[in-house]
Amino acid sequence: MKSRALLGLLADGRIHSGESLALSLGFSRTAVWKQIRRAADEGYSIETIRGKGYRLITLIDFLDADAILDQLSSNLRSTISSLQVHDELDSTNAEIIRQRAHNSRSDTLICLADHQTAGRGRRGRQWQSPRGENLYLSLGLMFRGGFAMLDGLSLVLGLAVAEALEKQGVNGVGLKWPNDVFVQGSKLAGILVELQGELEEGVIHVVAGIGINVHMSRAEGLEQAWTSLARSMPDRSWQRNQLSADVIASVLEVSEKFAATGFEGFRSQWQSRDIFSGQALTTVDGTLLGMGCGVDDKGNYLIDVDGKLEKVRAGEISLRAHS
Ligand code: BTN
Repeated sequence: MKSRALLGLLADGRIHSGESLALSLGFSRTAVWKQIRRAADEGYSIETIRGKGYRLITLIDFLDADAILDQLSSNLRSTISSLQVHDELDSTNAEIIRQRAHNSRSDTLICLADHQTAGRGRRGRQWQSPRGENLYLSLGLMFRGGFAMLDGLSLVLGLAVAEALEKQGVNGVGLKWPNDVFVQGSKLAGILVELQGELEEGVIHVVAGIGINVHMSRAEGLEQAWTSLARSMPDRSWQRNQLSADVIASVLEVSEKFAATGFEGFRSQWQSRDIFSGQALTTVDGTLLGMGCGVDDKGNYLIDVDGKLEKVRAGEISLRAHS
C-alpha cells in the first residue's frame, strides 16, 4: 500500500490540512494530493473539505507485526521464528508453504495479510478476503510423532479460535464439525489445515490457516449464512492486531498441550461447543442421516442412526442440521 504513511495520519478520522500533512510526511502539497488520489484508487474514501483539508471516512484498522508481537508474552514470542504482515498475498497458507521450503527447521512461522487475491477455503472453495476488513492468518506449526498423532488437530484449532474470541468478549461461540466457528447461527470464522508432510522423519509440518470476519458488512455469493464481529456486536470496535495476538497465543498454547495429550485432552471442551449435538443431521445433498452425538477420541463425528452410532470422518461428507 503506497499511501500507508498518509493513511496512518488520517486514521484518527479528523480533518487534516494539506499543509500539515505535507509537513508531517516531508512531501510537497502536490505529492500529498497525488497520494490522496492513490488512496482513493485503492478503495479508501477520503472527503475533501474546501479550505480545511482532508478527512478519512473509511475505517482504518492497520495490521502491524510489532503491535501484534508486543501483545504476546515474552515466553510465546521466543517460540516464534518469524511473524510477517503483508499488504497483499495470494494466500497466507501458500506463503507459509513457500517459506517452509527455505526454512524447514524453524518451529513456528506466522504470516498475516491485509488482503488475499486467492484465499483458500475448505473443499477447494475460495475464501473471500477483502482488503482491510478481516483477519487472514496462517501459522506454520511443527509436531513430532508422525501423522497418527495429528488426529483431531483441526478440531482443536477451532477450539483455540473459539476461546480467543471468547477472551475478546464474544459470547456463545459454537463449533460446527469439523472446525467452522459459529456465532448466533452464522459462520464467523473458518479454518483450513494443510499438511506439509514429513520433512524429517517423524516431524510433521502443518499449516493452520484461519480466516475471521471482523469488519465485513457485505459479501456476495457465500453459500452459508455468515456474520462478522462488527455485525454480531455492532456497539464494539475491533482491533485486528489485538485479535491476532489473542488467536496466535491461543493456537500456540493449545498446540503445545495437543502435542502432549492429543485430542483426548480437548474432547469434552469441544463437545460443549458442538452446534450439531442433538440435531437431526443431513448430508449437504439432503440425505437424512440421524442425530448428532458429538465426536469420538479421534475427532470423528458420531451420528445416532436408528440407535446405532455411525462415524463420519472429516472430509468424507459435509453435514448440515436438518431444518
Ligand atoms: C473454510 O473454508 O472455512 C476455511 C477458510 C480458511 C481461510 C483462511 S484465511 C487465512 C488462510 N489463508 C488461506 O488462503 N486460507 C486460510
